[in-house]
Amino acid sequence: MMKELIKATIIFVYILKLCKRVVLLKEIDARNKLTQLFQWANSERGVIPQRTISPEHSPSFMIHSLFLNGLKTTYDQRACLQTTDELFALLSLLKIINPKSIFEFGMFKGGSLIHFLINSSEQTMIHSLDITHDHLDHSIKTILNNHPNIKLHKANSMEFNFSSFSKTQDLVYVDGGHEYEVVKKDSENALNIVKENGVIVWDDYSPSHSGVFNYLNQLFLTKPNLVHIKNTSIVVLDYSHRLF
Ligand SMILES: C[S@@+](CC[C@H](N)C(=O)[O-])C[C@H]1O[C@@H](n2cnc3c(N)ncnc32)[C@H](O)[C@@H]1O
Repeated sequence: MMKELIKATIIFVYILKLCKRVVLLKEIDARNKLTQLFQWANSERGVIPQRTISPEHSPSFMIHSLFLNGLKTTYDQRACLQTTDELFALLSLLKIINPKSIFEFGMFKGGSLIHFLINSSEQTMIHSLDITHDHLDHSIKTILNNHPNIKLHKANSMEFNFSSFSKTQDLVYVDGGHEYEVVKKDSENALNIVKENGVIVWDDYSPSHSGVFNYLNQLFLTKPNLVHIKNTSIVVLDYSHRLF
């Protein structure tokens, strides 16, 4: 009798341990899953699918490829915030679209603006909007002022009147304020001023710029054709259907 009681107790304890282990394992599984999901949601990849512009325009090139591919850059990279891959992607995209009208949100030191200028035709009208022009250094200001096809606007993009730009722009570059509300407003304006067959490009799609990252992840729910260019923080909405 005693023997049987001991045996039953051992079996009971064993079953108890087994149950606890299963529960624990489940907890670990769930935690791992959550961690994975969390890491994925916060990874550079985000939720927008990644693509290269086209195989022959892979952004994984070094600076000399810019020249080999007939794209121009300035040797002076001080004004430029983009990585080489980003610059290459942006300029490849510019070459393919060959825009006659460009609107830029956020000029800062004029890095992207100068690249738009030297890689587009003299007929291309380029508008650039920034709340301040204080970051432009003298030499860049001189270059910009000598090009009548460039129009600089000094204004808060949240208050700027876009009515005269409605559906006029071949390329809109959204790289202004990175706060969620600013990106949202700039993007809504970008969607209004872009031509029906135009292209919108956003910079700084990365978790470190949570305003841009969260807004674009949300926009992706209603615009599933948004594309995140590989190795860059560039996101593109291509109504021209020429890029991918
Ligand atoms: C990332 S920088 C632009 C960089 C530039 N596109 C380049 O690639 O060289 C962002 C710029 O947006 C401007 N900005 C921020 N909030 C703004 C707003 N509400 N209206 C207009 N410009 C704004 C800042 O002054 C800053 O110069």
